[in-house]
Amino acid sequence: QTIDLELEAIEKGGFEHFMLKEIFEQPRSIRDCMRGRLDSTQGRLVLGGLSEYITKLVNADRILIVACGTSWHAGLVAEYFFEEFCRIPVEVEYASEFRYRNPVIREGDVVIAISQSGETADTLAAIELAKSKGAIIFGVCNVVGSSIARATHAGAYTHAGPEIGVASTKAFTAQLTVLSMIALSVAQRKGTITEQKLHELLVEMETIPAKVEKALTLNDEIRKISALFKDARNFIYLGRGYNFPVALEGALKLKEISYIHAEGYPAAEMKHGPIALIDEEMPVVFIATRDSSYEKVVSNIQEVKARKGRVISVVTEGDKLIPAMSEFVVEVPAVHDALMPLVSVIPLQLLSYHIAVMRGCNVDQPRNLAKSVTVE
Ligand code: G6P
Repeated sequence: QTIDLELEAIEKGGFEHFMLKEIFEQPRSIRDCMRGRLDSTQGRLVLGGLSEYITKLVNADRILIVACGTSWHAGLVAEYFFEEFCRIPVEVEYASEFRYRNPVIREGDVVIAISQSGETADTLAAIELAKSKGAIIFGVCNVVGSSIARATHAGAYTHAGPEIGVASTKAFTAQLTVLSMIALSVAQRKGTITEQKLHELLVEMETIPAKVEKALTLNDEIRKISALFKDARNFIYLGRGYNFPVALEGALKLKEISYIHAEGYPAAEMKHGPIALIDEEMPVVFIATRDSSYEKVVSNIQEVKARKGRVISVVTEGDKLIPAMSEFVVEVPAVHDALMPLVSVIPLQLLSYHIAVMRGCNVDQPRNLAKSVTVE
């Protein structure tokens, strides 16, 4: 027993929980994920596991992404990315819905399955179904040699290293990294991106580990904010564009480990329902970094304030307007819209972590949840 505990302490590398260790590992895991694959000086992206099949993606009429949980959120970000840079229509599907509804799968469709564990039963079944209809399947998995990795025609590993905490953190940012590299590689081959834009984005991607590192320095600040909100009974997370899936992911993290009810919503959709929930007790987290929907988000914040909601905002460094409207603000480094989720999710991971710890929850093994769901 003592030996087990000591071993565990060593594995946690000085952190109190695996989840915190994994959150802090992200600068490294994202770098590992790009290592040997991305070279901005040469304008080159090499994804070995895809090379044989990449033309299938380049010529795809449509991309179907299947996944569950946090991996599904990574799929949503990828949808925006593929549509913006590759001009290929994308549908993101919950694997569990897709597999049971007799989906339309046509020749020319390509499926991308995303799974940290590579063992999720619904995702595996969705792949088998799509395969039986003749689709080409790409996998984005973290666990090497996993069932999903073996069931796909081609794929790219996320190389985030083992993820022990049930709530996914570093696997999510590694999925975003891989999916961005795949999309840019397709865009380059398809000619839907200019060489200059591609170069700009590749250079930005190389800066992400340092920017994530910077975002992690928010830890103490976020711990203080967490102490003030730990007894909240509900939370709303709002974002638009690339930050909309981040809002979903922030809400999911909080539910998973702190058992506080949380909803993620596209900020503009708030007026069709969640706005009715807002009163002086409702914390509303805005992922409001400077991007093309910035002005719109500002109006959404005003709507929440007018109803006395408690606004916590994640903004881009140097922003003056949103901080003046918010009760609490955390600043993240500036980065291209499409890559912002890699950075803007960090404070949300930390917020859920600290709130859960303060509530005395079992952060690494939350009740009723499993790391890999091998039953349907
Ligand atoms: C479980 C885990 C989540 C994960 C989801 C999908 O619910 O608790 O963290 O996002 O499964 O898992 P996968 O391994 O397929 O990414």
